[in-house]
Amino acid sequence: MKKVRILFFLMLLPVVGLAQENEIVLKTKEAKDTINKNIYGHFAEHLGRCIYDGIWVGEDSPIPNTKGYRTDILEALKEIDIPVLRWPGGCFADAYHWKDGIGPKEDRPPMLNIFWGEVVEDNSFGTHEFLDLCEMLDCDPYLAVNVGSGSPQEAMQWVEYVLADDNSPMAELRRQNGREEPWDVKFWGIGNENWGCGGNMTASYYADLYKRFATYCRVDQRIASGGLNHDLEWTETLMKKTEVYQQLIQGMSYHHYTVCHNWEHKGSATDFSEEDWFLTIRQNVEMEDNLRQHMAIMDKYDPEKKIGLLADEWGNWHDAEPGTEPGFLFQQNTMRDAITASIYLNVFNRHCDRVTMANIAQVVNVLQAMVLTEGDKMVLTPTFYVFKMYKVHQDALNIPLELNSTEYTLGDKSIPAISASASEKEGVINLTLSNLDPNEGKSVTVNLDTEGKIKILSADIITANKMNSYNDFDNPDEITLKEFKGYQVKSGQLILDMPSKSVVHIAIENK
Ligand code: AHR
Repeated sequence: MKKVRILFFLMLLPVVGLAQENEIVLKTKEAKDTINKNIYGHFAEHLGRCIYDGIWVGEDSPIPNTKGYRTDILEALKEIDIPVLRWPGGCFADAYHWKDGIGPKEDRPPMLNIFWGEVVEDNSFGTHEFLDLCEMLDCDPYLAVNVGSGSPQEAMQWVEYVLADDNSPMAELRRQNGREEPWDVKFWGIGNENWGCGGNMTASYYADLYKRFATYCRVDQRIASGGLNHDLEWTETLMKKTEVYQQLIQGMSYHHYTVCHNWEHKGSATDFSEEDWFLTIRQNVEMEDNLRQHMAIMDKYDPEKKIGLLADEWGNWHDAEPGTEPGFLFQQNTMRDAITASIYLNVFNRHCDRVTMANIAQVVNVLQAMVLTEGDKMVLTPTFYVFKMYKVHQDALNIPLELNSTEYTLGDKSIPAISASASEKEGVINLTLSNLDPNEGKSVTVNLDTEGKIKILSADIITANKMNSYNDFDNPDEITLKEFKGYQVKSGQLILDMPSKSVVHIAIENK
């Protein structure tokens, strides 16, 4: 009998051993930095069907709308508490002349959208339409001025048009166009990707131009264009050249896209192998190192962290859906994208002492979108549900965590299997974590650095049967937010049984 018991115990060992390997300690006593709600920001560009046919259908459309904005989209976006929305681009920003988008619609001159499908932009959605949308969504607008093909004067007049409260010429023009009061716009980007579509400039040339434009844009928050992913040289030059002009710079932008294969052949959004899953997720995870390198440079020039880092474009960039215009960047969104969103957001939360804003690209029908539309139908993506789950972190106190994770291995390559972040607001600790392994469930043990009892207030999960499950117009609820029951509190520890490829949120009351 004794022998049988020992044998049984030995058989259990490997399982128990694994179950103990993923461990998280929440260091509540070390919490000091607030997660800026703007990390949960979004981005809307005049690109493909993001604005037209996405957000904006016009008042005469048969699609149900509120003053021209799609009602279903307004409702969906309200559900995720969008804190800030960036517009009009992207590459489009450096080709855009804001005066073409004000006044009576029939008088607005059209333009060619040279970057995105070479379509004719009729300018029916302009400054008023965008800023009114932000008021309806109760979010902060983030405008990008045109540096590439514009002038400091044009930028200065846009600032005046939007913000002036006096009898200045631009304020009067705004009033003639029906808006008496100025809008409240704090965030102004000075160009976009000026190393590429924003004028193919060198870092040094841009830094000088930045100072010139910033001098005339007298606003709260001026954000300089950053380099792409690995361009540390750009950050170094920009920080150095603005060092003695720090009153002119409040933020530097950072763009990080994950492309599974390469820019010519990115890979399908839905039809992918486990190797593609691994390649994508590994790049998402490695983004943190890249971010650290940029932040180390910023620390050198700005040790007090007065200048924010704004990750104002990020996400997975796949091939456009077959049969759609490639220049419109319309892509589906699977469980892989949900995992990606959780990884990026966990990283931004954990680095909230420097990362003050992030804007996933883009909000509707473009790249890693929240919602997709087709005619009058709309579908919420898995990424949408991650934003819905994670909104608890907005303006909460970041809780540093110690994470010991097992590995997810494919072939001879491995990455940590668990990604996590945590915060505290109004006595509630919110822990969000994801299991990056598409095959195996993981047990995660969570400890707090306090003596108090752990009481679970709520728990939810996003998961799917397959790596490439997604929501489409005929099957919109394949992936949603569901109640999570796979946890237990035992001997003062929280033990989570996370299914493979899942994102979990636990709200803990700590008394
Ligand atoms: O988000 C799509 C494009 O990606 C943006 O217009 C540009 O800034 C970036 O290259």
